[in-house]
Amino acid sequence: MFQKDLLQARRALITGGGTGLGKGTARRFLELGATVYICGRREKVLAETEKELRQISRNIHSIPCDVRDAAAVEKMVETIWNDGPLDILVNNAAGNFLARTEELSLRAFEAVIGIVLMGTLHVTLACGRRWLKIGHRAVVLNVTTTYTTSGSAYVVPSAVSKAGVEALTRSLAVEWGNRGIRMNAIAPGPIPTEGAFSRLLPRPELEKHALQRNPLGRFGTPAEFANLAAFLVSDGAGYINGEVVVMDGGEWLQGAGEFTSLGRMLTEEEWASMKPRKPSGD
Ligand code: HXC
Ligand code: NAP
Repeated sequence: MFQKDLLQARRALITGGGTGLGKGTARRFLELGATVYICGRREKVLAETEKELRQISRNIHSIPCDVRDAAAVEKMVETIWNDGPLDILVNNAAGNFLARTEELSLRAFEAVIGIVLMGTLHVTLACGRRWLKIGHRAVVLNVTTTYTTSGSAYVVPSAVSKAGVEALTRSLAVEWGNRGIRMNAIAPGPIPTEGAFSRLLPRPELEKHALQRNPLGRFGTPAEFANLAAFLVSDGAGYINGEVVVMDGGEWLQGAGEFTSLGRMLTEEEWASMKPRKPSGD
């Protein structure tokens, strides 16, 4: 799909790059020639991923860091900058779980908002201030969800945080665009990862229901996500700025269409009865 040297000599940080979609994106970026830094809270998970991805390229580095902690983020970004400025930031780290909103404690809200909204803000500011200071061209890719405009019951801390990330994406695309920094987001539909599916699909049978909600009848894949990410951070997408690209097989449109569900409910006879009648001739 891409030239092998698409991201040659680019330096990328992927938050939450030790697992799931972040790991898949790290793999793709390495295959395309980038130097990749991954961060997350669990040192062991990061070390295992670094070891695995080192088979693709030696240009993989892992740094334990909790993105909720602004001082820790500063330290991580400073460490990376000692080897040279980053060119690409992927804000992928997230937290989420299913819960009835009225039962959530304040700390439960803070846990998710802290990772998703504040974490994205901390890393974006730490990199952005450095880029602006030296006039370095760069690109930020945020990861959101398809329920940012509609909202969604039972994932309210995530919905409010991801909506904030989309507002951040569009705001800074304008504020920083004229200084060489592009900013976009991907809003994926369901893609099987241990982190997401263990928390959001409590029973395996629910997968069948989720698949019925999708026009393509399948989930997305980490490789499809990583390809879109690679395109959006590449120079080939240089005029795309402030965009949120939905990648969900058309799932949210199916849920939103007023008459969509009728397709499964109407009988052949009912469809036939709605066709125009032939004029009788008299
Ligand atoms: C209610 C919960 C809860 C739950 C935690 N809490 N889980 N409340 N229901 N299921 C509450 C705790 O009781 C506590 O409040 C507070 O939240 C903090 O919990 P901790 O366990 O101490 O937090 P922490 O260790 O920081 O873990 C953060 C986390 C966890 C968000 C809760 O799930 C996590 O580490 N997630 C990271 C990975 C992840 O979520 N990946 C999925 C991304 S998928 P109290 O008051 O008791 O102290 C995604 C979009 C998917 O984002 C869309 C699919 C289509
Ligand atoms: P995942 O594997 O659970 O990824 C989340 C990553 O974030 C983990 O590596 C986790 O590592 C890291 N993380 C969490 N809290 C952190 C913190 N405070 N500091 C640093 N890192 C932290 O789930 P995923 O499915 O790949 O999700 C990746 C992204 O896609 C997320 O933004 C998610 O919202 C989005 N998304 C996923 C889906 C889907 O269906 N999979 C759909 C829509 C959107 P540690 O636990 O080690 O910190």
